[in-house]
Amino acid sequence: MAEVRPTGSGKMFQEIQTDKLLLRNLVSEDAAPMFAYRSHPEICQYQSWEPKSVQEVESFIDTISKKEFDTTGWYQIAIVLENDGSLIGDCGIHILEDDRRLAEIGISLAPERQGNGYATEALNAVLNMLFVDLRKHRVFASVDPLNLPSMTLMKRLGLRQEAHFVQSLWFKEKWVDDVVFGMLQTEWQLTSAIQKRES
Ligand SMILES: CC(C)(COP(=O)(O)OP(=O)(O)OC[C@H]1O[C@@H](n2cnc3c(N)ncnc32)[C@H](O)[C@@H]1OP(=O)(O)O)[C@@H](O)C(=O)NCCC(=O)NCCS
Repeated sequence: MAEVRPTGSGKMFQEIQTDKLLLRNLVSEDAAPMFAYRSHPEICQYQSWEPKSVQEVESFIDTISKKEFDTTGWYQIAIVLENDGSLIGDCGIHILEDDRRLAEIGISLAPERQGNGYATEALNAVLNMLFVDLRKHRVFASVDPLNLPSMTLMKRLGLRQEAHFVQSLWFKEKWVDDVVFGMLQTEWQLTSAIQKRES
């Protein structure tokens, strides 16, 4: 696995470069490509946000860009291909209101960019930043078990399946299940050590 160079710290989200990707702040020019994949039915299926226009995405980006990183609530970062700078997806980081040492993650990739390992690469870097730079205690993700690519992704990243709540969420006019994946800082340290040994 490629070495990830974490650079996130303090109140600013600092860009992270991985093998094939650049994780950076969203900018207004991202609105059109972001709208294209974020409004795609496949991407919206398991997510509550379904933007109706490029302007809605512009306003979303504007709100995020006024927010400080690593404060409570959701923050969204851009996932960009390093070789040509194209926006291929975004990653959400939620710092919990109750305790800032806890974080939730989510990710979306444009349908035509899936199946290449980009989400795995991006979230590996994000986990590293959260655990190493920001010293989070626990990171978790909430996944609909019918969302198989997302279930596979969380397992591939080494997150532990901790709970399967049955019909616990009223979502898009029906009751749905919720699977919670989690990882502790100590587990990430172990995973990173194994990855380093194997690379
Ligand atoms: C969740 C989501 C980001 C996963 O995308 P993905 O393309 O499956 O994940 P990756 O980019 O890591 O790619 C993994 C695939 O690439 C393949 N791959 C190729 N090279 C790889 C590499 N170096 N490392 C890992 N996987 C690699 C894997 O075998 C896997 O293929 P498979 O799906 O045929 O098994 C995507 O399905 C998505 O955007 N869904 C809609 C939004 C959503 O529901 N998000 C969930 C909210 S948490």
